[in-house]
Amino acid sequence: MTTIRERFTVSQRLLHWLMALCILAMLFIGVGMVSTVAPKYLTLVSIHKPLGIAILLLALIRLGLRLRYGAPALPAAMPEPMKLAAHLSHYAFYLLMIAMPLLGWAMLSAAAYPVVLFAGVHLPAIVPQSDSLHTLLWDAHHYLAFAFFALILLHVAAALLHAFIRRDGVFQTMASVSTQDDAAAAER
Ligand code: HEM
Ligand code: HEM
Repeated sequence: MTTIRERFTVSQRLLHWLMALCILAMLFIGVGMVSTVAPKYLTLVSIHKPLGIAILLLALIRLGLRLRYGAPALPAAMPEPMKLAAHLSHYAFYLLMIAMPLLGWAMLSAAAYPVVLFAGVHLPAIVPQSDSLHTLLWDAHHYLAFAFFALILLHVAAALLHAFIRRDGVFQTMASVSTQDDAAAAER
């Protein structure tokens, strides 16, 4: 007997949209940061660091919810390569949502730079101080940020394809505003 869910749980949907906003903001704040030497650099960095660590915590909670509640099945009529692409892109998202903040934190640790979240709240260094390691982590944070951007563009294109062209209900699994988790669950 399997319970078929028609949409993600309320907590999964809330986290998805909240994190989508935060991640998009982080990408733009990051690019804004590295393209200015004006004093606003410091303001942007002071938002980037705590927001990035908040994303790390939310991603771990979200991973826990995903492992606990799973995901609604993709439509049987969806071609297998498309299903595979959807699954791989979701793995990549979880990897990026956890790796990007860790890389940022490690990059600052390698530069022996304090990771100040708020006044008086410092995070400990997670890697030893090393110039070469700092360069490596900086490059990884930089290139993975572009990969993140690209994946989001593909993901949004796929979401819109499901919503307006295929109209197969996949979009509603995440976009539904219903506050009921499993009202439409059917037992087979
Ligand atoms: C999901 C989380 C994160 C995203 C999407 C993100 C994104 C970005 C982006 C797009 C840049 C500009 C990259 C470039 O063009 O070179 C950047 C730079 C940077 N990020 Fe992040 N970041 C995240 C988390 C963090 C965290 C948690 C920290 C530190 C605790 C951090 C520290 C930095 C620093 C210090 C820079 C600027 C490096 C410089 O001035 O050269 N990031 N980030
Ligand atoms: C900006 C960052 C975004 C990230 C990191 C992200 C990540 C994810 C992940 C990981 C999933 C799989 C569900 C899960 O396991 O949690 C998912 C599903 C979904 N997302 Fe996003 N998403 C983003 C933005 C968006 C946007 C802007 C849209 C709409 C235009 C969207 C529409 C959807 C839909 C419809 C699903 C459910 C369909 C499916 O399972 O493929 N997402 N998203």
